[in-house]
Amino acid sequence: MDYEAKCTACSRRSQNLLDYKCPACGKPLDVRTSRRFEPKQIDDKIFGFWRHARFFPYVRKEDVVTLGEGWTPLVRHSGSVSFKLENLNPTGSFKDRGSTTLISATHAQVRKAKGYIAEDSSGNAGASVSAYSARAGLKARIYVPETVAGPKFSQIQFHGAEVVKVAGSRSKVAEEAQKPEKSKFYVGHILHPLFRDGIRSLAYEIVEQSGWKIPDRIYLPCSAGTLLLGVLSGFQHLVESGTVENVPTVVACQTSQVSPLFHRFKGSCYRPPEKIASVADALVSVDPPLLDLMVRQLKEADGDAVLVEENDILQAFSELARQGFFVEPSSAVAYAAYKKQLESKEASRANKTVIVLTGSGLKTTLKPSQQHNPAAS
Ligand SMILES: Cc1ncc(COP(=O)(O)O)c(C=O)c1O
Repeated sequence: MDYEAKCTACSRRSQNLLDYKCPACGKPLDVRTSRRFEPKQIDDKIFGFWRHARFFPYVRKEDVVTLGEGWTPLVRHSGSVSFKLENLNPTGSFKDRGSTTLISATHAQVRKAKGYIAEDSSGNAGASVSAYSARAGLKARIYVPETVAGPKFSQIQFHGAEVVKVAGSRSKVAEEAQKPEKSKFYVGHILHPLFRDGIRSLAYEIVEQSGWKIPDRIYLPCSAGTLLLGVLSGFQHLVESGTVENVPTVVACQTSQVSPLFHRFKGSCYRPPEKIASVADALVSVDPPLLDLMVRQLKEADGDAVLVEENDILQAFSELARQGFFVEPSSAVAYAAYKKQLESKEASRANKTVIVLTGSGLKTTLKPSQQHNPAAS
């Protein structure tokens, strides 16, 4: 076998690609490939995610479910700063990298069992998993909080997913989604290792698009941690394969309201507010199930964490939009964090920097009247 799915706690191996947690102890699983990353193994006739098919050996060629995700532009912003435009993925966010691997690897088994896909997310992941399930010809059932509304929820429904509204907390929604039922295959993106593993491809693309050099610093918005863990895993693979010498400084960016990783990483105590009311409405994981893993991996990779305030996010969102980059406020968190670190001199303009713009501004619920007004400040 050219890959292994293994428990991050007890090291037990999982043999079933549909397992979303360790069958022995219930802790998160991680997938690793034993194939070295070799630039000559890239299929350079494909300008998309699947140019790296060789490094995702658990997906058979004939099973690939694609909407043309990946190979998003890396655009120079100014000086040594570039933006990776993940908002340009088919469903409008980086989540498509996770959905293409997850659905490609599992749809044949689900179809054979006459089953359906189950996921819990009212946001970009729900929209993406719905789209890829539709593309695979599978039914998707998406569990969402009762109060859900907005463009992402509409997108989930437009893709034809069945929606189940659940009263109570976000963890209650996850609990409901995970309850075993006949024909249900729960592949929730937060826990399922194949979703996170697809995000590895972002590291490969950044390095190739930078002429096989690593940037000094990478800024990522961080909530449940799939983006952070996926990108770190991609860079580790590149280092282990000898393609690059070291992992860049990965900076996990959070809002002051939702910052469990920041606080644990810095050794301080985090108390979430009673109600989350941030404009960064995709960053809501106050108690992410992968927190231990996120902290451990960020420390091992010598990364960093930053926290930004609401005003900084609005300002960054407006600044980006007025420069032509229309992204979600949640994505603007990474740009706001970069600006904050420039000011505090933790980052420098001389650093080669990549900021990942994770989601499309077309999905924002903000109104133009709420944006930051530069004339007023
Ligand atoms: C646009 C956007 N950016 C960033 C994130 C954070 O990603 P993760 O939950 O993997 O940390 C999300 C998650 O929903 C998102 O939708």
